[in-house]
Amino acid sequence: MDFAHTIIDWQRLHGRHGLPWQGTRDPYRVWLSEIMLQQTQVATVIPYYHRFLERFPDVATLAAAAQEDVMPYWAGLGYYARARNLHRCAQSVVSDWGGQFPRKPEDIATLTGIGRSTAAAIAAFSFDTRAAILDGNVKRVFARHFGIEGDPMRREIEKAMWSLADSLLPGTGHTHPGMPAYTQGLMDMGATVCTRGTPACGACPLAGTCVARREGRQQELPTPRAR
Ligand code: ADE
Repeated sequence: MDFAHTIIDWQRLHGRHGLPWQGTRDPYRVWLSEIMLQQTQVATVIPYYHRFLERFPDVATLAAAAQEDVMPYWAGLGYYARARNLHRCAQSVVSDWGGQFPRKPEDIATLTGIGRSTAAAIAAFSFDTRAAILDGNVKRVFARHFGIEGDPMRREIEKAMWSLADSLLPGTGHTHPGMPAYTQGLMDMGATVCTRGTPACGACPLAGTCVARREGRQQELPTPRAR
C-alpha cells in the first residue's frame, strides 16, 4: 500500500475524530478552525470555536462586524494578529470574492494570514482538493520516514519537502475523496505518533518503511537547526 493510503487507513482507525470542525465542509468553519488551531491546542480551541460561530455564523456576519466586536471572542486564545487577520479576510471574501470563499489553494493563500499549508488544508477539508500541507509536524514525519538530512527550516530542504509532499498525495487530478482523511492523518501522526523526542514507533503504520526507525536515528532526524 502506498504512503498516502497507509495514512488514510490509519486515520480512519486511529486518528482524531468527532472534533467539531470535522463535521462540516463549510470553508468558513474549516478556515476558522485552522486559524484557531495554528498556535493553540485542540482542547483549548473547542469552546472558542463554538462561541465564535454562535456570534458570527457566516463570513458575511463576521465581515459586517466591527473589529472591537470580534476581539472579545478571541480573548484568551492569544496571538491576536490571528483575529485581526481573520476579520480582514472576511471583509476581503465579501468584497473581492462575492461572499464565496475561494476554492483554489493559490487563491486562498492570497488572503491575509493564510500561508500555503493552511490554504491547502482548508481546500482539502472543504473541497477534497489535492493540495499538500507542510507544517512542522509533517516535516518531522517526512524527515524521519524518508531519512531527509538537513534543517527543514532551510530553504532548499523545505523546497525538496514541498516537492515530496506533492508527490505523495493520494490519486491524481484535481480532487480525491481521501484528501480530508489524508490531511488530518498526517497532522495526527505528527502530533500523536511521530512526536518530538521519543516517537511511538510501535504504534506507527509506517514503521516498516521508515528510514529513521531502521537506522535507529529517530533522535537525530529531523536535523536540528544549526547554532
Ligand atoms: N492543527 C492545525 N490544523 C489542525 C487540525 N485540523 N486538527 C488538529 N490540529 C490541527
